[in-house]
Parts: sequence; structure tokens; C-alpha cells
Amino acid sequence: MRPFQFPKDFLFGSATAGVQVEGGDRNNNWYVWAQQGHIKDGSDILRAGDHWNRYREDIALLSQMHHKVYRMGIEWSRIEPEKGRFDEQAVAHYRDVLSRLIQNHICPLVTLHHFTYPIWLDKEGGFASKQIVSHFKRYTAFVVERLGDLVSEYITINEPNVFLLNSYVAGMWPPGKKDIPLAYQIFVNMSLCHFAAYELIHKIRRQRGFPGKTMVGVANHLRVFDPLRKGRTPDSFIAEKEQFFFQDAFADYMTTGTLPFPARLFVPQGHEGHYADFIGINYYSRNIVNAVDLKTFVQPDRPVNDLGWEIYPDGLRILCETFYERYHLPIWITENGVCDNNDVLRVRFIAEHLRAVKKAIDKGVPVERYYHWSLMDNFEWLEGESARFGLVYVDYETQRRIIKKSGRFYARICEDGGCTE
Ligand code: NOJ
Repeated sequence: MRPFQFPKDFLFGSATAGVQVEGGDRNNNWYVWAQQGHIKDGSDILRAGDHWNRYREDIALLSQMHHKVYRMGIEWSRIEPEKGRFDEQAVAHYRDVLSRLIQNHICPLVTLHHFTYPIWLDKEGGFASKQIVSHFKRYTAFVVERLGDLVSEYITINEPNVFLLNSYVAGMWPPGKKDIPLAYQIFVNMSLCHFAAYELIHKIRRQRGFPGKTMVGVANHLRVFDPLRKGRTPDSFIAEKEQFFFQDAFADYMTTGTLPFPARLFVPQGHEGHYADFIGINYYSRNIVNAVDLKTFVQPDRPVNDLGWEIYPDGLRILCETFYERYHLPIWITENGVCDNNDVLRVRFIAEHLRAVKKAIDKGVPVERYYHWSLMDNFEWLEGESARFGLVYVDYETQRRIIKKSGRFYARICEDGGCTE
């Protein structure tokens, strides 16, 4: 393997999300969805990794693996189990998690919304609710008031595009809708929630004089869209359109409050501004676009992960470069990882993706952080426990954790700031 070295101030770490690791929460929309039998392998969302009870052990692992940054979810349904009623035990819990991270010199990045929300909100229509912006503001304000002295970095919304597509276009995720006009409303509502939360987090942390530099952004799920037949082909035309609707529209609107003409005619005006302190990139794969059947095509000679997603490391370099050129903001890789149940692809996956990041840095792109998805195996939504993304193996029967070979490999990178072998 060719060696590479990152700048001294580059920060390596990993990411998880509330429901995917915590276990034990019956009060969120995904618990209901799982109860309705949507999880392919039938695994129990209440089990996950029992991180709610085992976080001390998991933070010890982070420390042992030399992670310097850690992205974690705050679960709305735990913080505000009923509308307007906040739970002090949940606050105490998250304060302890954050304090222990800090004691271990691991800087936390908190996600406020990662696909799930409380049942009371679900009953009101979730992000379709007319009250959603005020609900999201109330929740955000509470979290920042009560935890903001311990955490200065926030992701307001994780992968709004994936949420929108799976929940309101494909109907595969709760609330299982296939409704384009409603999807458009969700696009607007999520964006308005983000604008409000961005401003609120800055305002509260400033007013309260909380320590640390406030950094707020979105974790954008970004893919590369390449046409199957290059040149001026229908595939190229469709690839461009797919890219716009899948990722550029959300990223543009949420970052700047504006959209290019004519799309701007369809979104609320008066939000032009600055709504990101970094561009979060969640990167997994690319789409090869075939205009004939609109299905993503994977070239037969390309490597794929255990879910059949193409492994395309150079895509990460391309996205870092194009998104920096577009917004001139620092880039944080807020997720990047591989479903690899036997841990045979991950070492190479990490090395090649980091090398791609390094290439972007060498070209002058300020990529500052890399959060590997995921610290540990976890509940992969519809795939349940059967899709493993962790650096740490979780034996769900016993909840025993075992650092994988790739976890040890990545730990050396985190310690050395590069790869020397
Ligand atoms: C991105 C999502 O944010 C995360 O929840 C999911 O587990 C990973 N992708 C892997 O699919």
C-alpha cells in the first residue's frame, strides 16, 4: 500500500446515530415501522447495540482507537418524549456521554435529526406538519440551552435528500408515502427547519457565552452521477437532472437559501443567506445513469460492497473539489464507509478513500475532517442487523464488542495522521 500523510491539524474519527446504536426506544417513528414488519431480516430495533447502556465501554473503544472526533445523534424522542415535555434523565444521559468524550479528548459533533422523530410528531405528520418549524426550533433551542456548553458543533439534519426520497417518493421508509407534491412540501419544510436551527444555534451559544467555535451544517448524502454513454447523450441529460433533483437542489437551498432559475420560482423567497459553516459530505457510491430504464447500473468490472453498491473512491475527491468550488466552505466528510460483513474490503476501502481525500487537499481543498461510518456495527434501517458497517464488530446476542482488523488499521491512521506502510 502506498503511504500517505495528512496535514497535522486534520481530524480523524467516526460516526453513529441514535436509534441505530442506542436500542430500547419505543417512542419513535422507526420503532413503529419496525413493528409493522418492514425490517427485511426481522431484527429487533430495540436491541441495536445497546449503546444507551454501554456508551462508557464504547467511548473507551473510541479512545483506544485514537479517534479525535466523534459524530453522534441526539434522539428527539428521548429529549422530548411528549410535545412540550422534556426529559431530564435524557439530558443527564447525553451530558454524561458528551462529558466523557471531552475527558477522553474526543471532540463531539451532534446530529439533531437523523431520520427518526417522536411518535407525537409522527401523529401530527412529521415534517409535513404545519407546526414543524416551531417544533424543530423548540427542540433545537432546548438541546443547545442544555448541552451547548459541552458541544459547539452541530449537524441540523442528516441526509435530507435520502430521507425525502425513501419516505415520500419511494415509500419504503416511514411514513411510507409516494406523493410528489407532498415531497416538495417536505423539501421546503426541512429547509426552513434548517435555516431556523442554524440561526438559533449560533444565537443561543453566542448569548450564553458557551465555549468553542460554533460550527453548524448539514450532512449531505452526495453521489457521483455518471452517464452510461458519455457525450451529448440522453444518459448525460438524465444524469444531470438526477444529480440536481437528488442532491444539488437540497445542498444549494440549505447552504445559501437560494436555488438556480427556474427552480427558485418554486421555493419560498427571502431566505438568501449563509446557513453552513462547513459542507458535510456523506459519501458511499456513484450512480451510472442509463436513460433507457432509469436504473443505476454497476459496471461488471467494478468492486461492490455487500449491498451491491459500487466502491468508487475517486468520487470522494471529485465531490470535495466540486463542492468546495461551489461554496468555498471547509469540507467535513461526515460519513464514509462500507457494508462489509466479513471485514475483507474495509482496510482497502479506507486507504483508497483517504488517499482520494488527500488528493483533494493537495489541490488546495480545505478538507478538515473524516468521520468513518461507523464506529460499530449497527441497525442499518431496512436491512436491520444484517448489514455491518462497523470498525468494531458487535455480537448482538451477547453485546460483546470486538475491534475488527480494519478497526486496528484505521486506529493506526488516527494515531499517526496517515498511513506509513
Ligand atoms: C447514511 C446514513 O446516514 C446512515 O444512517 C446509514 O447507516 C449509512 N448511510 C449507511 O447506509
